[in-house]
Order: sequence, then C-alpha cells, then structure tokens
Amino acid sequence: MAVPAFTRQYVLISGLPRLPLMLNCPLDKRLKMPSAPAPVRVAVVGLGFGAEFLPIYQKHPQAEVRAISRRNEAELHKIGDAFGIENRYTEYEQVLADPEVDFVHINSPIPDHGWMSIEALKAGKHVMCTVPMATTIEECEQIAKLVDETGLKYMMAETVVYSREFLFIREMLKSGELGDVQYMQASHPQDMEGWPEYWERMIPMHYATHVVSPVLGLLDKRAEYVSCFGSGVVNADIAEKSGNKFAVESCHIKIRGSDVAAHIWRFLFDTARQYRESFDVYGTKKSFEWPLIEGEDPVIHTAKQPEAMIPERVKVTDFAHLLPEEIREFTQQVADQEHLSFIQGAGHGGSHPHMVHEFVSSLVDNRDPWPNARTSANWTCVGICAHQSAVEGGKIVPLPEFTIK
Ligand SMILES: NC(=O)c1ccc[n+]([C@@H]2O[C@H](COP(=O)([O-])OP(=O)(O)OC[C@H]3O[C@@H](n4cnc5c(N)ncnc54)[C@H](O)[C@@H]3O)[C@@H](O)[C@H]2O)c1
Repeated sequence: MAVPAFTRQYVLISGLPRLPLMLNCPLDKRLKMPSAPAPVRVAVVGLGFGAEFLPIYQKHPQAEVRAISRRNEAELHKIGDAFGIENRYTEYEQVLADPEVDFVHINSPIPDHGWMSIEALKAGKHVMCTVPMATTIEECEQIAKLVDETGLKYMMAETVVYSREFLFIREMLKSGELGDVQYMQASHPQDMEGWPEYWERMIPMHYATHVVSPVLGLLDKRAEYVSCFGSGVVNADIAEKSGNKFAVESCHIKIRGSDVAAHIWRFLFDTARQYRESFDVYGTKKSFEWPLIEGEDPVIHTAKQPEAMIPERVKVTDFAHLLPEEIREFTQQVADQEHLSFIQGAGHGGSHPHMVHEFVSSLVDNRDPWPNARTSANWTCVGICAHQSAVEGGKIVPLPEFTIK
C-alpha cells in the first residue's frame, strides 16, 4: 500500500530525511502488552498544529487516538486517511458525545480554548489544551472549579516548560550548578503578520504563557501581582481590531514566596525583530543567557572567573531519555516543517512528546499533570492582569486569589 503523502513529509529538524512512520494500531498495543492497563483514548480537536500530536499519540505505549475533529470536512478526511484514523467529527458536540473518548486535546483557535475546555469537563472528559488556557479570568476560574468539582484532569500544553532549554536550565538549578536564582527575564517578540486573522484581534499579553511559564515554572511558584507598561503604538487597523494600542507590553512579576522578581515582554505587530522565545536566568554561581539570533548557541556565565573566561557558549542537550522509547524520536522532528509556528518557533524545543507523555502518564497514574488547572490559570492570568495594568499606566494588579491557592 502506498504511504500517504502526509506521513511522508517527516524530516529531522537537522534536515536529514527519515523513513516514513509505520502507523501503530491500538490492537498492536494490546497484543504486545496483555497485562498493561488499557490505553487512554484521545480525541485531537483542531488539526493545524494539532496534527503534530497524532503520530506521537499513536506511538505512545499507553495512548490511543480514538478520534479527530476539525470543521473542514475535506481536510479532516485528508488527515484521517493519512494517519489511518477512523472516527472523524466536524462538530465538537460529536466529540463530546463519543463515550470512547477519555480526553480531548484542544488545538483550536485561541477564542475557542475556554468554552471548549469547559464543555469537555462538563461532558466528563479530561482536557489537555494548547496555550493560553482562555482569554478571560472568568473562564479560567470556571475551568479550575470544574476540575475541583469533577476530579477530572486539566493541563495547559505549554511547550516552553518542556523544551530542551528549559529542562537543561532546570537541571542546572536542581544540581546546584546555578546557585541561587537572583533574577529571570523572558521575551517573546514575534511578527504575526500573515498568521490567521484572529491574531489581529489578540492583545500581546493575552498570549504571554511562553514567557510567564519559564519564569514561574523554574521556581515552581505562582505570581502574586504584576505591573506592566505599554510602549509604542500599533497601526490604526490592528489597534481597532484588537482594542489595544500598545506595540510592546513589558511586565514585572512579583513571585509569591520568593525574593526573586521577573521581567517579561511581548509584541505581535509593527516592531522589527526576529522571532525569539528567550529565557535568561541569573544565579549566584552561573547564569544562562539565550542567544540573540536563532540558531546560535546560548551562553553560560560563570562567576569569579577572569573577565574573558566568564562567558562560554554551550550546546543544550536533548532530554529524549526521559520518555518511553517509542516516542523519543519526536524530540528531534516535526511533521509539517512549513507550519509558521515551526519556522518561527524553533520546533518548540522538542517539547511535543514530553507534553503528551506528561498528560497521558498523569491519567494512567491518576495524579495531577504539570501544569495543573490552577497553575495554568495563574500563568494565563499573569498576561490578562498585565494588560489591565498597562491600560492603567502600570498600576499594580494582584493575581486572582483562586490562581494562587
Ligand atoms: N508553541 C505553542 O504552544 C503553539 C504553537 C502553535 C499553535 N499553538 C496554538 O494552537 C492553536 C491552533 O494553532 P494553528 O496554528 O494550528 O491554528 P489554525 O487556525 O491553523 O488551525 C486551527 C484548527 O482548529 C480547527 N477548528 C476550529 N474550530 C473548530 C471546532 N469548532 N471544532 C473542531 N476544530 C476546529 C480548524 O479547522 C483548524 O484545523 C492556537 O490556539 C495556537 O495558539 C500553540
């Protein structure tokens, strides 16, 4: 049988071609591991970025792709045929009505994340949802409450905290190599011209989790309050569509229960800079600085050295060894190298299989995933509160209490 074109698109991030994937059928998994618990069954909703996760779920030893969903029927069938997935739904209600779906992995446009997560939890499904959790505090609170009431699991699929760079820095902190953290900063400049039109209606800080998550995630603490300044102006068309006039939003975060403060900044339009999702950490012994230009290596600064010896470029290692063998290959490859989020997103640092494994194993082991609903809400609400602060000239805005508890 001919291999479908979609599976033939696989490349290593390094650019070397690899063989097409052999599709894993769920029956194989059951026959191979008769004593293993039944795999958890996912419906992947939204198949742009979402399609990336299909081969990972198919190869994960404890997961099974039960269904896929997108609105465009022809595109739905194209992907269903390519990956050999039988159950295909154009309506979200059909997904939620399927009793064989244990959890949904939502990859729909941003305005749909909140209501889709809420409806899924009400329908008794666990939820993994791409970032951000929602665009209002009320929706974040409703999701957190539903998780408390139902005991279902929710995870925001934040790529940055499963990237090899984050895992590398976290290991440096845990091993004591960094010393104590003194300060952190993160930036996410990205020119969104040419992206789906809903981005024109976005406010920079409403998509801030890629900068909030590393600074809070490294210390595993919550934000307590923020102060944010707006800077510069976007063109009149974007300002009208988004309701936001600032080109750049720059925010300081007070971290609860810590002496450390963090600084984050973002833009979406009308500011010249290459895409970057950077994260710098300054410690008493060593500091990690992100490269200025994509493709360069980061720099480690070591204290108490002769000045010229302080900085040193380093290669960040991969963390595939933390994953089940079957999905390790996915830290080094993406299916659709033409997708803008990979051209501008550096392949998301090999995070996709880590996120899949975190959520699947949290369901199998019946534990909270990381980030759970309240942590996801705290990370998301930092951006929402930051924009409110910017509108009010930098006023200190406290994070909602439910995100800190
Ligand atoms: N690094 C990251 O974390 C990262 C990277 C890329 C994208 N994303 C997120 O993933 C989401 C999707 O991004 P994209 O670039 O693929 O967007 P896209 O607009 O290209 O694709 C969205 C998909 O959702 C589907 N969809 C829309 N409404 C639906 C509905 N009611 N039911 C089922 N399917 C529906 C569309 O048909 C399409 O397949 C966005 O929210 C984006 O923020 C996150």
